[in-house]
Amino acid sequence: MAQPRILILGAPGAGKGTQSAKITEEFDVEHITTGDALRANKDMDISDMDTEYDTPREYMDQGELVPDDVVNAIVDEALSQADGFVLDGYPRNIEQAEELEDMTDLDVVLYLDVGEEELVHRLTGRRMDPETGEIYHVEYNPPEDPEVEERLEQRDDDTEETVKERLRVFRENTEPVIEYYEDEGSLERVNGEQAPDEVWEEVKATIEDAA
Ligand code: AP5
Repeated sequence: MAQPRILILGAPGAGKGTQSAKITEEFDVEHITTGDALRANKDMDISDMDTEYDTPREYMDQGELVPDDVVNAIVDEALSQADGFVLDGYPRNIEQAEELEDMTDLDVVLYLDVGEEELVHRLTGRRMDPETGEIYHVEYNPPEDPEVEERLEQRDDDTEETVKERLRVFRENTEPVIEYYEDEGSLERVNGEQAPDEVWEEVKATIEDAA
């Protein structure tokens, strides 16, 4: 498998971004992430798409899903430009999963399995480096360089209240997507509660096995 087409599923905070960065490097594939794409375009005018709000910002800051039409267009465009990829943050509901089926085939579907208490702890402690995009955690993975530590930022939607709403939206909309791939027989579960390097060993082996 020269350029694998990988889907990574998991609840908010399961470690999709952390593991996708390693996958990108090891397997030389594109990282396609709807979360980052939407954050970079939070104030894009979507009013002509007949949506409740005029920009993605209102949805994201409340922990709600951005309308399917907006997200489907982003993924379709990104996939058309990539041979191999790791797709992170999509699909988040059954409609998106059906849409994805029309867009591309997949070689591996990974699910990072992490319990809810751990997810809340990870998200409220997460910090991002605005210069490099590197992901840190105040307790699990603090930066060594004090200069980096000083410039770290917390994501707008990583407050406790919004995290709880994101997890509710995940249970309601995205858990059926996990079942969809499980029923299809393609879901590969990875224990996401281990240390990041241990999770990576499992992720890497699963992708290699699918080759
Ligand atoms: P998005 O950016 O996709 O957020 P998410 O799915 O909520 O996932 P996160 O990025 O929060 O978590 P992650 O799994 O990547 O964890 P990470 O590796 O950072 O989406 C944001 C918003 O955009 C949505 O709410 C929605 O509004 C909108 N949106 C996006 N896609 C959409 C779609 N398809 N449809 C509609 N709307 C959409 O890790 C978390 C923390 O834990 C870090 O601090 C990290 O250092 C730490 N950590 C990671 N792994 C471990 C480990 N093994 N042990 C200990 N700590 C760890």
